[in-house]
Amino acid sequence: MPTLADLVVRHTALDAADLDWLHSLVSDWQLLADLSFADLILWAPLIGAERKSPAGDHEHSGGWIAIAQMRPTTGPTVYHDDIVGTVAAKGERHLIDTAWDERRICREGDPDWSTGVPVREETIPVRRNTPDGEGRFLGVIQRSTNLSSARTPSRLELTYLQSASDLAQMVAEGRFPFSGEEPILVRSPRVGDGLLRLDRAGRVTYASPNALSAYRRLGLHADLVGAELGRVTAQLCYSDEPINEDLMIVASGRAAKETEVESGGTIVQLRAIPLIVGGGRIGALVLIRDVTELRRRERELMTKDATIREIHHRVKNNLQTVAALLRLQARRLRVPEGREALEEAVRRVGSIAIVHETLSHAPEEFVDFDDIADRVIAMAGEVSSAEVAVTPRRVGAFGVLPSLIATPLAMALTEVLQNALQHGHPGRLQVVVSRGERLDVLVWDDGKGLPEDFDLETSTSLGLQIVRTLVEGELSGKLSIQPRPGGGTEVTLSIPLPNP
Ligand SMILES: Nc1ncnc2c1ncn2[C@@H]1O[C@H](COP(=O)(O)OP(=O)(O)OP(=O)(O)O)[C@@H](O)[C@H]1O
Ligand SMILES: [Mg+2]
Repeated sequence: MPTLADLVVRHTALDAADLDWLHSLVSDWQLLADLSFADLILWAPLIGAERKSPAGDHEHSGGWIAIAQMRPTTGPTVYHDDIVGTVAAKGERHLIDTAWDERRICREGDPDWSTGVPVREETIPVRRNTPDGEGRFLGVIQRSTNLSSARTPSRLELTYLQSASDLAQMVAEGRFPFSGEEPILVRSPRVGDGLLRLDRAGRVTYASPNALSAYRRLGLHADLVGAELGRVTAQLCYSDEPINEDLMIVASGRAAKETEVESGGTIVQLRAIPLIVGGGRIGALVLIRDVTELRRRERELMTKDATIREIHHRVKNNLQTVAALLRLQARRLRVPEGREALEEAVRRVGSIAIVHETLSHAPEEFVDFDDIADRVIAMAGEVSSAEVAVTPRRVGAFGVLPSLIATPLAMALTEVLQNALQHGHPGRLQVVVSRGERLDVLVWDDGKGLPEDFDLETSTSLGLQIVRTLVEGELSGKLSIQPRPGGGTEVTLSIPLPNP
């Protein structure tokens, strides 16, 4: 399905700033749909391909293309199908043409029965005010209300509909959506979460039952209607902490902003939508949502994250202590073989510590393995530097790998590098990585090469056994070790990667 941007670029003459405006409109127009109990369809003026002049000017062909659609969460929909991408010719939809030609909201006409249910249609021209004060019209919103379930409207419905018509007026005047409102990360409160309507002075004229409940949970005992919301909220949420500056601005409905207030263990999200119609502020809507549970779960997750990180950190510290102890012990040993064995153990433990250290920074399911590999490679090179002067090099990238793969792979790599340095005494040593559906790692050296009678299958020494167990067992991969053409040895590890 084409995106809003696709449709605008391909079929209309709207520019980038227009597109931005439409993006913020449709990211916020759920509000209008919910308050209207109506479906919304955004129509943009189509450029007629045959009418595109040689000079490159685009001309409105008179037709329309539907570029976005929104259903109400507060009432029945009219359109069960997707309308986006539909084209309407000039003259086919009078209300759209009229709203566009006359630059005004149109609500005349009898209910339309063409979909089988009575539908009231209204159209709203979408205006964007350019920085130089000009108004540009970008399209028309068609608002379709399914009347089949309409009954005598309640106080709630009347308030919603009045607010919807104020918002529609703001769309036509280029005052909604609010430009420059910070992008909202958490889902904003919706109409159904709780709605208050304030008058010009910031006094509550209507409170939906959910909104009232949220304020009850914040500790309100009195009635909300008639109260000055800014003052009431500040009193409820009074604390010794520095005053939340947004609180007064939002709760009095003076600026398009969001904030969160907390009292008695309840956390409530407030979003103010100032209503500015005909050049004057007539009041505001304040959407309200109790986010106590949501925030509690977030906090829990955060502490869980921190705990896991701390555990990795401690495991790393403990492993480093083990390595240090082994190193001490190795120094005291007179028997060279014993000493070598212990030193190797130090390196094995060290490579696991590296993985835990990485995980202690980012305890995610994925780690950047290039960082780990480079440290494993450096560690192998360091240890050998006394005997051989070779710096192992990495070619190609491992990229991001699941942490489950990281530990065994780091250990296997350590062993293979150690072998090359210990037995091959090479002049060059490289780790060549290529990543496709599998991860292929080639470690080659130009050293002495494998002994005559070498056979991986029957080799009983510990190092390669560890590598085999890790690669074939834990990583379900393949291991091969063979003479390198031209001298030296090459070891390949081929590991299947889980589907992303
Ligand atoms: N890159 C290499 N160049 C030359 N010989 C190698 C190379 N890699 C492995 N070998 C040979 O394979 C043998 C087995 O290696 P393996 O790692 O299993 O044992 P090890 O290194 O001798 O002892 P350890 O268990 O301490 O690692 C080595 O002894 C060595 O002869
Ligand atoms: Mg070895």
